[in-house]
Amino acid sequence: MSPRTADTAVAVHPLLAERWSPRSFDASHTITDDELVSLLEAARWAPSARNSQPWRFLVGRRGDTTYKRIFDTLMAGNRLWAGNSSLLVAAVAAERLEDGTPHHGAAYDTGLAVSQLSVQAHALGLHAHQMGGFDREQLRTALDIPDGYRPLSVTAVGALALADLLPPELRDRETAARERRPLKETFFAEGWGNPIPVRHDG
Ligand SMILES: Cc1cc2nc3c(=O)[nH]c(=O)nc-3n(C[C@H](O)[C@H](O)[C@H](O)COP(=O)(O)O)c2cc1C
Repeated sequence: MSPRTADTAVAVHPLLAERWSPRSFDASHTITDDELVSLLEAARWAPSARNSQPWRFLVGRRGDTTYKRIFDTLMAGNRLWAGNSSLLVAAVAAERLEDGTPHHGAAYDTGLAVSQLSVQAHALGLHAHQMGGFDREQLRTALDIPDGYRPLSVTAVGALALADLLPPELRDRETAARERRPLKETFFAEGWGNPIPVRHDG
């Protein structure tokens, strides 16, 4: 078990327990066409309200124009590391359903699709790191995203590299313990704030 593995009260599927968001990516790694299509299929087959599939994705491979345009929109802190990833995937959500009414669940659905892509990356032996730190309007302009579509996230995908290869200011974060709010403060029953009454000591 990797030290990055989630410390869960009982076992969960290894793909979920072992997924994490690294910053150190292998700058020499390239993604195969089959791996790429596998990631895209995982996202495409996500569930969505009324099967509306509000997501669209802009996909760049390191070295191509799309990658460069997405990379250039990233906040400085993300530009420190994300340029070694093999793939940058921008997720965009349609703001309206096909009948023209507002799609209130578009961000929810698109997040599900990105989540599936992230888990599939892990299943392929790759890693994914989602980012909200990018300039949405710059992305819209750079990649001709039409009105009615809202950029939501950029996900870096690639092969893991050693934490030592990161700039010093990022190294500690790469190896710090992964943490989550406790179960009892997250899952309620019989009223808000009441921990769900279940034993979770294994
Ligand atoms: C919507 C979203 C936006 C995020 N934005 C950033 C970001 O801009 N920069 C960054 O380094 N990490 C970002 N992250 C990664 C989170 O910090 C990370 O998922 C969280 O700390 C939990 O770590 P884990 O994924 O390793 O479990 C983002 C994650 C999500 C889901």
